[in-house]
Amino acid sequence: MENKLKLCIALDNPSKEENLKLAKEIKEYSKDIWLKVGFRSFIRDGKEFIVELKKMGYNVFLDLKLYDIPNTMADAAEEIAKMEIDMFNIHASAGIKAMREVMNRIEKFEKRPLVLAVTALTSFDNEEFKKIYGQDIEIKAKKFAKEAYKAGLDGVVCSVWESLEIKNDTNENFLTLTPGIRPFGENAGDQKRIADIKTAKKHKSDFIVIGRPIYKSDNPKKIVEKILKEIQ
Ligand code: C5P
Repeated sequence: MENKLKLCIALDNPSKEENLKLAKEIKEYSKDIWLKVGFRSFIRDGKEFIVELKKMGYNVFLDLKLYDIPNTMADAAEEIAKMEIDMFNIHASAGIKAMREVMNRIEKFEKRPLVLAVTALTSFDNEEFKKIYGQDIEIKAKKFAKEAYKAGLDGVVCSVWESLEIKNDTNENFLTLTPGIRPFGENAGDQKRIADIKTAKKHKSDFIVIGRPIYKSDNPKKIVEKILKEIQ
């Protein structure tokens, strides 16, 4: 995969119609844009919604952050691989055995989706994270990333602030997908470890995930065009 920063838009709108409206509005850029289908859209609109997005020419990232016992995760991964999904994610904290089992199970697919591991959610600050995981974010996120790399995954979900170090610790082609992007100084909302596009580029992110700054704006297409211009 070419090493150019790609925009991934989170389709977290309250209705399928609003998500499709946005996807249609920016369809001319479908080759350059990934769409992220998360809990809200997938639970509500299911596989059919993904088929509609694929028909418009988009790459689709299914953000369900799988976390369960290894066999159950692998079962779910197999079902995901049967759909026309380009990328999905699992939690690194499910353990290296679970990550390996997921990769083994989808090996048989001729065109398998990319698999990323979630390291630390970008909504955590260090204090909150430490209470749960017992270590500082930057240390633990890097540990998770190394395990995901060892398990044969394609990359990780992390904040911009860990991206470069994770690549240095693993491989420059090990993908980093970074949410918590506020391109033009927008409100952070519940995100804690945010960054702008320039910083994402500097830290060698492969994908930036942007949701609310796009779908909540009065003119999403204009914002998307501004972002695409900046990531070139
Ligand atoms: O609206 P906003 O730009 O904050 O959206 C970020 C999106 O990325 C949300 O859909 C959220 O679920 C997702 N995400 C995240 N942090 C992670 C993984 C996914 O914010 N570590």
